[in-house]
Amino acid sequence: GEEAAESTAPQEGDTVSVGVAIYRFDDNFMTLYREELENYFSQLSEETGVTYELDIQDGKQDQATQTEQINNFITQGKDVMILNLVDVTAANAIINLAQEADIPIVFINREPETDDMKIWPGKTTYVGADATQSGTFQGEMIAETSNQGDINGDGQINYIMLQGDPQNVDAQQRTEFSIKALEDAGLTPNALSEPYQANWDSARGQEFTANALAQFGEDLEVVFSNNDGMAMGAIQSINSAGRTVGEDIYLVGVDAIPEAIQALNDGNLTGTVLNDHFNQAQTVVE
Ligand code: GAL
Repeated sequence: GEEAAESTAPQEGDTVSVGVAIYRFDDNFMTLYREELENYFSQLSEETGVTYELDIQDGKQDQATQTEQINNFITQGKDVMILNLVDVTAANAIINLAQEADIPIVFINREPETDDMKIWPGKTTYVGADATQSGTFQGEMIAETSNQGDINGDGQINYIMLQGDPQNVDAQQRTEFSIKALEDAGLTPNALSEPYQANWDSARGQEFTANALAQFGEDLEVVFSNNDGMAMGAIQSINSAGRTVGEDIYLVGVDAIPEAIQALNDGNLTGTVLNDHFNQAQTVVE
């Protein structure tokens, strides 16, 4: 709470050691996020005279590796941890260990289960975007196209879904709410396949989209991508298949990474939704 935070607030000349665990360095969005964490901590250091010592670890998309990194943070007696878990089901055990060592945690980007967040209230918190809204905006962008996503005029929107990690609440909610937005607009979405597990990864986005284009051909009207990284991969396959975004296919992503803005300007992307890494990172630091 406020009072506890004030009574322990670091003073000029103090050093605060911060353990930061990122699920995977090789992820466009989390790289931007990580850079802003570093920027903002050093800005804060300059302003306050408090030294923030960051120890940033790459979980390499492996929970066992990451758990070891977090155990090291605890052994080293970090003052606070910022955790972007590989697998949120690890949160329970981690919170219990952190509580024993009295090291508060700010979870980022991947939200642990509500029950886990009740284990150590006041000393654990989560910072993330509202993924239901990102999904809704994706669906709305398709509904707002001239033919409402129904390019072949058969009364349905034939789509595929490139899904991030299915354990991740961002992936689940973007998937669900993008389709719900179409239904809410009175349209008829038709999934050509089960969601493809592309795991936020550009190469997999490319591969699955290529497969889908080969399998469904002209029937495929909309590619929903849970993030821009996978959408960037999809663009490659769409172009190789001789299809044209905005003419015979639509593609939407989430994050608004610089590459996606470029693709928007080039006409290779129908739309993206800002996932505000800048303000999220600053909020985490605050
Ligand atoms: C999402 C983001 C993705 C990916 C993922 C990692 O919020 O949109 O691009 O970075 O987090 O958990």
